Amino acid sequence: MGETITGLKRTHMCAELNENMNGQTVTVMGWAHNTRKLGQLIFIALRDRTGLLQLAFDENETTADIFAKAKAVKGEYVIAVTGKVRLRAEKDINRQMETGKIEIAAEELRILNEADTPPFQVAAEGVGNEMRLKYRYIDMRRPEMQRKFLIRHKTCQAMREFYSNEGFIEVETPYLNKGTPEGAKEYVVPSRIFPGNFYVLPQSPQQFKQLLMVGGFDKYFQIVRCFRDEDNRADRQPEFTQLDVELSFVDTDDVLDVTERMLKHVFKKAAGIDVELPIQRMPYAEAMERFGSDKPDLRFGMEIVNISHLTTGTEFEVFKSAEAEKHSVRGINAAGCANMPRKQQDALQEYVKTFKAKGLMFIAIDENGEVKTSLSKFLSPEQLRAVTAAFNAEPGDLICMCAGRDGIVLDALGNLRCEVARRMDIIPRDVNRFVWVTEMPLLELDEESGKWNAVHHPFTSPLECDLHMFETNPGKIRAKAYDIVLNGLELGGGSVRIHQPEVQKKMFRTLGLSDDEITARFGHMLEAFRFGAPPHGGIAFGLDRVVMLMCGEENIREVIAFPKTKEQYCLLTDAPNTVSEKQLNELSIKIKS
Ligand code: AMO
Repeated sequence: MGETITGLKRTHMCAELNENMNGQTVTVMGWAHNTRKLGQLIFIALRDRTGLLQLAFDENETTADIFAKAKAVKGEYVIAVTGKVRLRAEKDINRQMETGKIEIAAEELRILNEADTPPFQVAAEGVGNEMRLKYRYIDMRRPEMQRKFLIRHKTCQAMREFYSNEGFIEVETPYLNKGTPEGAKEYVVPSRIFPGNFYVLPQSPQQFKQLLMVGGFDKYFQIVRCFRDEDNRADRQPEFTQLDVELSFVDTDDVLDVTERMLKHVFKKAAGIDVELPIQRMPYAEAMERFGSDKPDLRFGMEIVNISHLTTGTEFEVFKSAEAEKHSVRGINAAGCANMPRKQQDALQEYVKTFKAKGLMFIAIDENGEVKTSLSKFLSPEQLRAVTAAFNAEPGDLICMCAGRDGIVLDALGNLRCEVARRMDIIPRDVNRFVWVTEMPLLELDEESGKWNAVHHPFTSPLECDLHMFETNPGKIRAKAYDIVLNGLELGGGSVRIHQPEVQKKMFRTLGLSDDEITARFGHMLEAFRFGAPPHGGIAFGLDRVVMLMCGEENIREVIAFPKTKEQYCLLTDAPNTVSEKQLNELSIKIKS
């Protein structure tokens, strides 16, 4: 059984001790990281959140009782030690350890708790994800994990500090809600008091933050948990955290301005990263045209070039049908890849097919400037020259081209661009390229149902100059919406909202909602807007994604204390799980067998 802590007070954390404290008596507490037993001497490396510290037990200097206890200590035992700081002899200094110049000459030892042999060593590398999630509390003892969670903490602290200084107040909004449409499936919670009725967990506090604006709160923020029942990916979890913000009496520029300043403050404070302001802005249409993506990675070039006008009038079936169908021919220049082996070119062909493209055509310019391509049968030398010139191709380059419907070609080349950059390893690691992508389309057509869907959400305002297109060309309406993208990853998104009831109704009607449906789903919003809604707008960041990038990680799981698996399962607690028959009865729920 472990000893008690009664009468003992920790005086220092491990890494707080240094050679200037030589001779000082201190009490430290933590976990036995490892032990070395050398006859009359026992060394224990003590670990706490701040780092490691060597404890030395000398049989001649401690009591027999303490020495025997030290002998019994095993890995991950929880111990408290009182002793004197002393300098290590020059030859014993450990330069890998922050406290490597000193050790504690132990006088007292309490074993506060024993520990079974852990399923993996804290110092072990390459432990599988399943083990790490099942025994997360052991995984968390690793310095690397502690560093990341400290960055996460500092991020939240810096966000709160920034917004508080700017006159924003943090307000909590409910988790037991009516559904808010953000596009994902929702988690529902059965009501005991209203049998057959369900609360919906928020995908975001969108409606409530808008209602706070109607309530006159003016500048709101919240660090808030959100829930979306969607397939987990590296940048998605079913529950995740947003930094959610809303302001009144603002237009797009005001939201972008305060948000940029927040980013500068937070990245510097939490991770020491300098963000240069102003952040570049790029309309959605331009991002798609140049990078084939609404989240362009600007750390490298290889922009997409449209060469449709250069491939007309040929006998080549691919170009001929692109011309006839008003499709496009576009490509990228994989600079320096002219010698790419056939096998790798084939792999790129297969890669673009996963984005529904038919395939790729290549033009290689060899070291002597000679053009090598199977297209030379169909394109005249002048045409070929014009094409290579359009890509600014130089000896050693490889042009990869794709023909087909605009959407497919852009998507395929946008992804290919990133894939080639990854394969060539040309993406600089310590560069942070932020970009605002603005003026997204307001609506998108669902091909299957023929219905319009809101690209962002139905409260997003159209650009005033596009309002007239609700009746004529809804797909062309641009929204006062913006995403903030960092190194090709969407960190956050938001919009200026519709605050005029007539425009909101128009939007709902275009989405195909009947008056009854509008009242049933959004009656409370429309009603609120009738009582004086200020113009307002806001944004929400995926906090986990922000921290993930600050930490140089590629999966948000790494910066979430207790994340779920890909199957939305908690390996630590085994959730989800069944509930008792009694609970089901109370909730008037019968499980279909
Ligand atoms: P949006 O749906 O774009 O906007 O979400 C904002 C940001 O939240 C993060 N995010 C996620 N992070 C982890 N796991 C997920 N499953 C997940 N889903 C989204 C992303 C995203 O950019 N209410 C609006 C904001 C507004 O209009 O003010 C909203 O939620 O980083």
